Amino acid sequence: MGTRESVQKGKRMRTYLVTGGAGFIGSNYIHYMFGKYGDTIRIINVDALTYAGNLENLKAVENLDNYTFVRADICDKEAIARIFAENDIDRVVHFAAESHVDRSIRNPEVFVQTNVLGTAVMLNCAKDAWELPDGSFKAGKKFLHVSTDEVYGSLPEDEDAFFYETTPYDPHSPYSASKASSDMLVKAYMDTYKFPANITNCSNNYGPYQFPEKFIPLMINNALQGRKLPVYGDGKNVRDWLYVEDHAKAIDMVQEQGRLFEVYNIGGHNEKQNIEILHIILETLQEMLPEGDPRKALVSEELITYVEDRKGHDRRYAIAPDKIRSEIGWEPETMFKDGIRKTIAWFFEHEEWMKNVTSGDYQKYYDDMYGNG
Ligand code: NAD
Ligand code: DAU
Repeated sequence: MGTRESVQKGKRMRTYLVTGGAGFIGSNYIHYMFGKYGDTIRIINVDALTYAGNLENLKAVENLDNYTFVRADICDKEAIARIFAENDIDRVVHFAAESHVDRSIRNPEVFVQTNVLGTAVMLNCAKDAWELPDGSFKAGKKFLHVSTDEVYGSLPEDEDAFFYETTPYDPHSPYSASKASSDMLVKAYMDTYKFPANITNCSNNYGPYQFPEKFIPLMINNALQGRKLPVYGDGKNVRDWLYVEDHAKAIDMVQEQGRLFEVYNIGGHNEKQNIEILHIILETLQEMLPEGDPRKALVSEELITYVEDRKGHDRRYAIAPDKIRSEIGWEPETMFKDGIRKTIAWFFEHEEWMKNVTSGDYQKYYDDMYGNG
């Protein structure tokens, strides 16, 4: 990739380096950013295209002059350093990660590799590119590390307990331990070098382009095929669900309006037990499927199957997004009943997408994980 001039109509365009932009949240973020800023920004998306990365998610932007895709692993120092050397990057938004808890229980090593070492590479390359001879940083450069509420561990089933930015870290799964480690590295760079960064810790996302290993798209996909709906344990674990576009908006607001070096928690104020979510999905599918559609007869509560619990399964997550609301003015906008309808409508319109991502490797993962349900 040659050096690109980020200049448009005589004005320098702000240049973003987005990692993991072919995944679920990263691709939604890229669509959100082009929707908001159009041709006034430039985005370079660096993604290794693991099983979770899918360029089909970005079809609508792939031919834009101000969008570039680079296939690279964030652990590859030379490749990442080259992107910084060839482009005057203003913003890094770091999504790339191994993101699925169940996979981390089966194969933790790749989580340490990508989430910890990969983050160290991203930090170091950005620092090298942005640092001035006196140890300060070029004006206006910013790094945002996208992290998770799982670093805080598990809350008791007491309505009044929430995660705050001050909650001590207590990760339990290999996934959350690797994300906690990556957060600590970002904190270390901020404390040691005054590296210009923010960390956001967000609750469970749902919406278009989510890979069907995750609870909501897995249940939608299985229900439409009349397959078993595997609920872990007693189904009463609680997650705080946020529509993905609200998360994309929050990330942009934190990066542009937040105070540097600060951590912001992002959450949906939408705590629900897994079994409640599943009932809502089944009801909504029944409402949305037209009369005469053969899938209507397949979607049924009888498919719900309680299966062995996830090892070390965190009981409850819930964010109090007070800081981001009071300092930045961000609030979740999408009510769950609307977000789930939009999500289901998207899956109805993208049957081909679902067929493509559930062929090949996915089937093997599914059979290993759940048997042939
Ligand atoms: P995802 O698994 O859908 O996407 C991850 C992307 O990263 C994929 O495109 C994949 O190809 C890419 N990737 C993986 N390893 C890579 C590597 N070594 N080099 C370059 N690219 C690589 O994940 P997601 O759900 O979109 O999550 C994105 C980020 O948000 C993650 O950091 C995750 O921890 C965080 N997060 C997710 C949620 C959620 O509910 N999904 C909530 C809070 C935070
Ligand atoms: O809280 C933020 C996190 O949310 C992100 O950091 C992770 O990247 C993201 O994957 C998500 O983690 P969870 O483990 O909460 O999400 P998942 O969709 O895997 O599971 C949601 C809940 O549903 C959890 O309590 C486990 C349960 N579950 C999940 C699957 C896949 C089931 O009961 N059955 C299933 O088949």
